[in-house]
Amino acid sequence: MIKKGIILAGGLGTRMSPITKSVNKQLLPIYDKPLIYYPLSILMLSGIKDILIIVNKGQINQFRKILTNGKKLGINIQYKEQNAPNGLPEAFIIGEKFIGKEGVALILGDNFFYAQSLTKTLQNARKLNLGAKVFLHPVKNPKLYGIATIKNKKITYLKEKPTITKSNLAVTGLYFFDKHVVNFSKNLKPSKRKELEIIDLLNKYKKKNKLSFEFLGRGGAWLDAGSIDDYYDATSFVSAIEKRQGFKIACLEEIALTKKWINKKEILESIKFYGSCGYSRYLKQLIS
Ligand code: G1P
Repeated sequence: MIKKGIILAGGLGTRMSPITKSVNKQLLPIYDKPLIYYPLSILMLSGIKDILIIVNKGQINQFRKILTNGKKLGINIQYKEQNAPNGLPEAFIIGEKFIGKEGVALILGDNFFYAQSLTKTLQNARKLNLGAKVFLHPVKNPKLYGIATIKNKKITYLKEKPTITKSNLAVTGLYFFDKHVVNFSKNLKPSKRKELEIIDLLNKYKKKNKLSFEFLGRGGAWLDAGSIDDYYDATSFVSAIEKRQGFKIACLEEIALTKKWINKKEILESIKFYGSCGYSRYLKQLIS
């Protein structure tokens, strides 16, 4: 059972400059809450309570200011810096001490997931003991992502941002790995773009026949908020659903309350912390 999770919330957000010149992308809003709430909600929904957030150099305080040490959510949050964007698998090298000798989940700080029975899928994925698991979702422009080809219910080929490909199945930014991930990551060589590549790491598992996958499902939404348009798309999506149905997506306190990790007392503290706003009013409603 995987008990730990890493959120990689570094990166320069160059594609979104000038907005990201002085603020980390993951702290910008997706509708009514910072982007980081969404990937954090995914780890929490999986049942993961031990979380490491990796941020850019000098930005820990910005994140700590809003997420604190996680106590108010009944979880434990630690922070570490990534000095330069050296690739996703570096998360496992930076997080070596945090991971210890266990398996770990990784979610990219700019990935947004929303799907029917997602919680169940995630809770199942957490049961992983050996190997690695990825989540696939069809995309219109495969050139922008890591892409997987499937044959006989197996991943037969993986390629990072292919110029030509027959597959439209993107490897989304949520991964579950067994305890070998740190060693495998340490043995990776930087790619042509001078980064450690997640696809190369996944290929190590594939070679050993230890790579499994799941589909998010046709009704699911997956967005990688890497560009301005993706950002606004995600915002429109959340706004439409929240206004229509009256419940919030990625309300961390609600998830923690539902899981009984916190009670009314912590919710009242959060209301005080957030101050007078729509989010606080929603929290009030949860405990009334
Ligand atoms: C990264 C990964 C890619 C994956 C994507 C998901 O790409 O390298 O394999 O499909 O995240 O968001 P990036 O967004 O860093 O270009």
